[in-house]
Amino acid sequence: MHFFQYRGRELYAEDVAITELAGKYGTPLFVYSYNTLLRHFRAYTDAFKDYPHIICFALKSNSNMAILRLFAENGGGADIVSGGELYRALKAGISPKKIVYAGVGKTEEEIRFALRSKILMCNVESGDELREINRIAGIMGLKAPIALRINPDIDPETHPYIATGLRKNKFGIPIEDAVEHYRIASKMKNITILGIHKHIGSQITRISPFVDALKNILLLVDKLSTDGLNIQYLDIGGGLGISYKDEEPPVPQDLAKNLIPLLKGRKLTLITEPGRSIVGNAGILVTHVLYQKKGENKEFVIVDAGMNDLIRPSLYDAYHHILPVLQRKREIILCDVVGPICESGDFLAKERELRKVERGEYLAVMGAGAYGFTMSSNYNSRPRAAEVLVRGNEHFLIRSRETYRDLIRNEKIPGFLR
Ligand code: LLP
Repeated sequence: MHFFQYRGRELYAEDVAITELAGKYGTPLFVYSYNTLLRHFRAYTDAFKDYPHIICFALKSNSNMAILRLFAENGGGADIVSGGELYRALKAGISPKKIVYAGVGKTEEEIRFALRSKILMCNVESGDELREINRIAGIMGLKAPIALRINPDIDPETHPYIATGLRKNKFGIPIEDAVEHYRIASKMKNITILGIHKHIGSQITRISPFVDALKNILLLVDKLSTDGLNIQYLDIGGGLGISYKDEEPPVPQDLAKNLIPLLKGRKLTLITEPGRSIVGNAGILVTHVLYQKKGENKEFVIVDAGMNDLIRPSLYDAYHHILPVLQRKREIILCDVVGPICESGDFLAKERELRKVERGEYLAVMGAGAYGFTMSSNYNSRPRAAEVLVRGNEHFLIRSRETYRDLIRNEKIPGFLR
């Protein structure tokens, strides 16, 4: 459910016509709907309201400061994976006590930053990392709050690049080594064990992998408790999918309905780390048609947004609906919607049936709110797109379009070349 709908023939974001936004801010342009973001965030807080919980929004999906502030204002926490994300979360006003930090490769500088900021906990992904955090905490004269990220070996049935909870993935500590690692951690002088963490993958469209993974984790929690170790925070990660094409993924209510009964009678605080299911369908990418040309058995619609703006189709063969911003009665053509980047892999849609479009007309790439802007780059020296937030009939620029000057801001020509 989102607030990008046609009124008559025209596509709107809430009460603002997309054409108006594209005219004012230019393209390519990310447009987010405030009320969709809020609605999706509240779907989580409502679903879990009867169980102690923290909703730690996954910054990797969308880390725009305005969007983070919106969640902070509504009591949201953050799931971060880098010092940069920690910086953003804190600047946006997210309480450090609601920040959890995962990632297989935390550097010393990042660990220091996290400990200094007094975040809730580091989700530790290896024995090496555990020893490093213990060492750094010792030097800093404090105790590091941690959870161990456990890999429960559950198949999330999603794209292999975004599956994380299988034995063959690089993430977490294998479940069979978990007890041993907890034992080691409990003996470390500068470590406080707070929790357990798992995240099995992203764009998961069935409920059973979540249930199976939680069951495995709870068996482990019980084993740890017989060892005298009581876990306080149970972090179940993110991963709920959205509808890009015709998927019918479970919603937060389904997740809560299936998971909370398993937690009855346990004194835990539940942490979830949703990203995509909150922001994915709350954002679109608006682009305009530059040119068209005939290919062998299809047409190429060449637009001004490319894989540097939205890499998901190129990287995961991901499907995104492409809608005309103004509907017109035209013949249907078979086409590839491609960007200006010098790569054959630069496409937003392949072999798609669309109504014929003409130069200058706008298209909307749907479901671009998650892993859209955050994965964008300056490849081909393309300035990154602007971002706009729409609330009712108001609109706000929440990130300016980059300029050519921005592109070279950090580069220096050594004196010997002058
Ligand atoms: N927690 C952890 C530890 C994660 O690694 C992730 C995502 C999340 C939470 C949030 O998952 P979500 O609720 O958004 O599914 N770039 C890919 C997705 C990569 C996901 C990485 N981890 C894409 O565009 O599909």
